[in-house]
Amino acid sequence: MNLRLINSCDVAGKRVVVRVDWNVTLGKALQIIDGTRIIRTLPTINWLKNNGAKQIILLSHLGKAEEKRSLEPVVGYAEQLLGEEISLHSTAEQCQSDTVSRVIMLENVRLWAGEDSNDPSFARELSSLGELYVNEAFGECHRESASIVGIAEYLPAYAGLWLEEEVTAILKVRENPEHPFVVVMGGAKVADKLPLLKLLSERADTILVGGRLANELQGESTKLVGRAKIILPLEGSEILDIGEETRKIFAEEIKKAKTIVWNGPMGMVEDVRYRAGTEAVFEAIVRNKGAYSLVGGGDTLAALGNEAQVAEIDHVSTGGGAMLSLLEKGDLPGLMMLESLPNSE
Ligand code: 3PG
Repeated sequence: MNLRLINSCDVAGKRVVVRVDWNVTLGKALQIIDGTRIIRTLPTINWLKNNGAKQIILLSHLGKAEEKRSLEPVVGYAEQLLGEEISLHSTAEQCQSDTVSRVIMLENVRLWAGEDSNDPSFARELSSLGELYVNEAFGECHRESASIVGIAEYLPAYAGLWLEEEVTAILKVRENPEHPFVVVMGGAKVADKLPLLKLLSERADTILVGGRLANELQGESTKLVGRAKIILPLEGSEILDIGEETRKIFAEEIKKAKTIVWNGPMGMVEDVRYRAGTEAVFEAIVRNKGAYSLVGGGDTLAALGNEAQVAEIDHVSTGGGAMLSLLEKGDLPGLMMLESLPNSE
C-alpha cells in the first residue's frame, strides 16, 4: 500500500492537524493504565516540531460518544511525555483564537454528534483548524468518522510515521501468513468482532475464543462455517475467565503456530482474580519463538504487564478492530483517504 507520508512534506510554518488515537484505558482514578497509544504518536509530533510546523492541533476520541468523557487526564499524561504544554480547548473557535500555544488539542471529538456520523459541516469545521492533516490514529481507521475520513476531503492528507509501520506489519501477515495460522480473540466490542471472526475463519487454521466474545458464541460456533477450527472455553457460558483446562488447550494450539494474531483479553482482566487466562495466552505466545506474533487492541495492551515480554512480540499494534479489519479486508476507510487524494501540498 502506497501511503503519502508526512515526512515527504514541507511543514515549515504550517498549522498541522494531527488525528491521534489516544483512546487509552483509564483506571478508576482516571489514571492511564497503558500509554502505548500515546507513546507511538510522539515521533510524528516531534518530527513536526523539529521541522518547523507553526502549530500542532491534536484531535482524538476517548470512549464512546454517550460516555461524554474529557481528554483532560490523557492530556496531562501526554504533556509529561512530550515535555511541553498542550492547551486543551472545548471548542473549535477557542482553538482558532489560540495563536500562541505551539501544541493545542480540541476536546474529545465524540462530544459532537457530527464525528461518528461523518457530518460534512463538522468535518469542514475541523479542517478549518489547520492547513495540513496527518492521520496518526491507526486504531480508528476502520471508522468512517469526520476526523478520520471527512476531514481528508478538505485538507491535504498524510499518514503518520507509526500508522505506516502498522500498515506494513499487518499487511505482511495478511499477504503471507505462515501456517498454522492461529487467531486468539476475546474482549468486548462483540458486535464489531463477530463479522470479523466469520471472515477470519476463512483465512486462519485455528481460532481460539475467550472473553465476552466466547460467552456470546457458546452454542453458536457452528454458524461460523469457515475452514478454521473454532475452539471455545470448556467452562461454558457466562465465565469471567478461561479455566485451567482451556488454558492448556489454547497453549498447545499456540505452540504449534507459525503465525499468531491476538486481540482481546480472555476474561474480566480489570479484576485481578480473572487475569490468569489472559496471562497464560500471553506467555504461550512469547514462548513460541518460531512464530510471527501480532498482538493488538486497547484493552489487550492494558492487560500486558511485563515490558520485557511485550518486547518479544513481533508487532504490538495500537489497533484492535482496525487491526482485525485490515487483516481481513486489506484496506480501511481512513487509509483510502491517504492513498487516493492528489498530493496538493
Ligand atoms: C479502539 O479502541 O479500538 C479504537 O480507539 C477505536 O475505538 P472505537 O471502537 O470506540 O471506535
